[in-house]
Amino acid sequence: MFSQQQDNMEVTALCIKLLSLMMMLLCEHDQKVNAASLHIDPNRAQFFEYESLTFYCEGISYCEVVHESKGKISSCNKTNNITLTGSSCILRNVYTDESGEYWFDAGGGNKSNSVNITITDGSVILEIPALPVMVGEAVTLRCRNKTTSSETLAEFYKDGVFIGNSATVNSIIRSVSKSDEGLYKCSISGVGESAESRLTVGESHQSLPDITSPSTPWIIATVFLVILLVVVVLYHFGKDDWNKG
Ligand SMILES: *[C@@H]1O[C@H](CO)[C@@H](O)[C@H](O)[C@H]1NC(C)=O
Ligand SMILES: *[C@@H]1O[C@H](CO)[C@@H](O)[C@H](O)[C@H]1NC(C)=O
Ligand SMILES: *[C@@H]1O[C@H](CO)[C@@H](O)[C@H](O)[C@H]1NC(C)=O
Ligand SMILES: *[C@@H]1O[C@H](CO)[C@@H](O)[C@H](O)[C@H]1NC(C)=O
Ligand SMILES: *[C@@H]1O[C@H](CO)[C@@H](O)[C@H](O)[C@H]1NC(C)=O
Repeated sequence: MFSQQQDNMEVTALCIKLLSLMMMLLCEHDQKVNAASLHIDPNRAQFFEYESLTFYCEGISYCEVVHESKGKISSCNKTNNITLTGSSCILRNVYTDESGEYWFDAGGGNKSNSVNITITDGSVILEIPALPVMVGEAVTLRCRNKTTSSETLAEFYKDGVFIGNSATVNSIIRSVSKSDEGLYKCSISGVGESAESRLTVGESHQSLPDITSPSTPWIIATVFLVILLVVVVLYHFGKDDWNKG
């Protein structure tokens, strides 16, 4: 038979074990949420020469972006900035040979996601998100003339097939689905054609609430705490009854 003091110590040890397990689960989830990822602003896959863009390296304190053939971007060194969620750096006056794939080294040989951008010396770009869009989101494709922003007629193509023209230069996909993935380009009559860029469609986070919802660990934590409370309360009532009896 255990003495009451030993029993209390056992319960305390059990509580500490449960609490540390809970903290571990919460921390693991946070690491997943803050997984190293690369974003760009503006979020588009095509740029005219001499435009600027900002890279955001989420989950890492020094944004050191790598270009597929040029290696580490030197201007990232000069413009590095700490943000609330990571770090950022600016690429100014982009040039055609800076087109291509970008990523950053997330440590331990891991790479972040990569982002493809095309920089053109032509007169038309297609504004299309560089990052994957989620199923169900609305996406605006915009065909832009370098020198005028006046409304003109633009033609849009997906995988080389004409998909429609739009007098407002905007083509809106109201609710994106996996079948909207593909290579898009546009042209403005008498001006020119844009480069082609890929629209990537990711799975919606909302459709998997049990795995990816940020509230999930807090629900788990609450359930843990309630169970813990019930165990402690039952233990004390049980002990009192046992002592009385
Ligand atoms: C940044 O660039 C300077 C030279 O311009 C160099 O001395 C320094 O080592 C660089 N820092 C990093 C972190 O690359
Ligand atoms: C760094 O961030 C501050 C605040 O957001 C901003 O004002 C500044 O322009 C940024 N500097 C660079 C070099 O990105
Ligand atoms: C790469 O990332 C994975 C998952 O984020 C992690 O488990 C692994 O330890 C990392 N690899 C290295 C060598 O750090
Ligand atoms: C970037 O482009 C290359 C070559 O076109 C392709 O292999 C790669 O999958 C693309 N990456 C992304 C993230 O779209
Ligand atoms: C588009 O830009 C060109 C110059 O690049 C200009 O000559 C032309 O008028 C513009 N066209 C339209 C339809 O806005």
